[in-house]
Amino acid sequence: MSHQSLDSLHDVFVTELNDILDAEQQIVKVMPEMIDHASSPRLKAKFEAHLKQTHDQINRLHQVFTMLGITPTEEECKGMKGILRDGEKVLKAKGNAAAIDAALIAAAQKVEHYEISSYGTLRTYARTLGRNDVADLLQTTLQQESQTDELLTSLAQESINRKAA
Ligand SMILES: [Fe+2]
Repeated sequence: MSHQSLDSLHDVFVTELNDILDAEQQIVKVMPEMIDHASSPRLKAKFEAHLKQTHDQINRLHQVFTMLGITPTEEECKGMKGILRDGEKVLKAKGNAAAIDAALIAAAQKVEHYEISSYGTLRTYARTLGRNDVADLLQTTLQQESQTDELLTSLAQESINRKAA
């Protein structure tokens, strides 16, 4: 991140919005490969559904930028880049299908937790800044991320981890 001036909560809010927008754009590029590599039809379906949601989430973020009258900086989110780079090791791995599915879920949940953290912070900032309209949009995305995380947890617990064991 370049040296910027953070003089108010609004500035931090805008910085974090740019961070998550770039993170989402990185995720959209990697998800098709995750779908390809997943063996369990249920896991594939969950990833496919989340890819669709991610497109909606990006649209929602653009809506937020418009509502705030600001333009995205297109600065790279290095946090997400690192998480996805680790995930790419799984995409290159060979081995047992269920074990690879378990590793894909682990990688995906790291992504989700990063996003849950970001959207939770952003939603709270928006409320503090008196922008409940923006907070509502961010809350919608936060709920989708949390739900995806929970679905992945139950899929792992119900079947995939046991098959991999
Ligand atoms: Fe997302």
